[in-house]
Amino acid sequence: MNFVKIKTNNSELVKPIKSYLESIDALNKDKKISKEDGVYSIHTKLENTDKFEAELVEYASEIRYGYYPFQLLPEPDSLTTIVKNYFTWRGLELDKDLEDHIPKKWSIYRPLLLFGSDTFDSKVWQDKLATMDDTDFFSYILSNRLFVNSRVSNIAINKPIIESDVMRRPFNIKPLFGDFGPPPSNYDNPTEFDFMGAFWCTVVQNGIFQTWAPYYTMFSRGNIKEKARILDTYKDLKQSVVFDLYCGIGYFSLSYLKNGAKHLFCWELNPWSVEGFRRAIEYKYAFKIFKRHDKFNYDIFLQEVRKNESNEYVLSRLETFPKHQLPIAHGSWDTTRELIKHHSSIDSTIAHIHENVHQMIMSKFDTTILPTPVKVKTFAPDIWHVVFVSTIVSSALRDDAEDRLESSV
Ligand SMILES: C[S@@+](CC[C@H](N)C(=O)[O-])C[C@H]1O[C@@H](n2cnc3c(N)ncnc32)[C@H](O)[C@@H]1O
Repeated sequence: MNFVKIKTNNSELVKPIKSYLESIDALNKDKKISKEDGVYSIHTKLENTDKFEAELVEYASEIRYGYYPFQLLPEPDSLTTIVKNYFTWRGLELDKDLEDHIPKKWSIYRPLLLFGSDTFDSKVWQDKLATMDDTDFFSYILSNRLFVNSRVSNIAINKPIIESDVMRRPFNIKPLFGDFGPPPSNYDNPTEFDFMGAFWCTVVQNGIFQTWAPYYTMFSRGNIKEKARILDTYKDLKQSVVFDLYCGIGYFSLSYLKNGAKHLFCWELNPWSVEGFRRAIEYKYAFKIFKRHDKFNYDIFLQEVRKNESNEYVLSRLETFPKHQLPIAHGSWDTTRELIKHHSSIDSTIAHIHENVHQMIMSKFDTTILPTPVKVKTFAPDIWHVVFVSTIVSSALRDDAEDRLESSV
């Protein structure tokens, strides 16, 4: 079968044409946009130009149409169809209750396929799985075209994180299929051996590789927009020192690094997150991990870089440091405020303040210092994880200004 391809020499047209084709479901995503002798080809999955030619008329002088042969594969089966097929094949009965609890969506963090809760972990499914060969069932699911190209080998159920755990560890994640390594044990003092034996998964977001051990560290897909905003907003950080006071596996820090931060200081309590971050940067950046009682001063810093402890120690760690230019700081308000107040040699710092706030209280932040926050994701019922982005003038951090903020929170 021959489909239309749109050709142009103007690189600036590629993105709008691609987006438009996507919006009318006419882009052939199985064919990469190609460039040959300066000519870009964007592949549609339509046999003629009727559906889009009028819309693209504004580019008419700069585009040409051609044809290319392509065999479109049928849409893969839905998970419900796959499950139904399996039950029919194995002569099992799939009642309505089971069907209602088949997951409709999922996340893939290679090699992990993660379903939401109240799906295969529901009582009705757990009872059913206990009576059948669940290994055979999940292998069948993973071998379907819906998943096979994603190269997943493990399946688990995501569960809500316990609110009181400051390290946000996924204690309740429920493995369903595949080898997850030894059961979780060494949360606080893992050895190299623990790190090596654990199951690690990965994701690439905005071109940035991240890795974590799902028994020990949370991952929030919801941060992707905030990461993209950091990447787009702070393009050139070559002269900048960035502080990330809850760095986790590097969710935001990796974006600052990608944009060339001169130095990055990170604080993280969870050694498993630090290990994930280490794995993401090990072949790319010079770094040093400091533990709570490791000696650290400006001389040591000049040769080494990084540590693993609560960020409440940031100020004492920096006692021997001269003031630095601090154009960006990233953390909770109390610590970031002190950092800017005592350690910045410049009067203006862009602060990214992350806080978990009750939705009723959000509006009460002092807008003379912090503007209206951007809601990033829900943290718990009625509690939002929000980000305030504000240029903080250090001289504005007078005691009376702080008092006003504190009394308003
Ligand atoms: C929700 S994760 C955030 C990671 C990432 N920055 C984000 O916003 O998604 C919070 C991280 O902060 C760490 N954390 C919590 N309290 C901390 C503290 N006092 N000092 C350093 N790290 C802390 C936790 O272990 C966890 O990895």
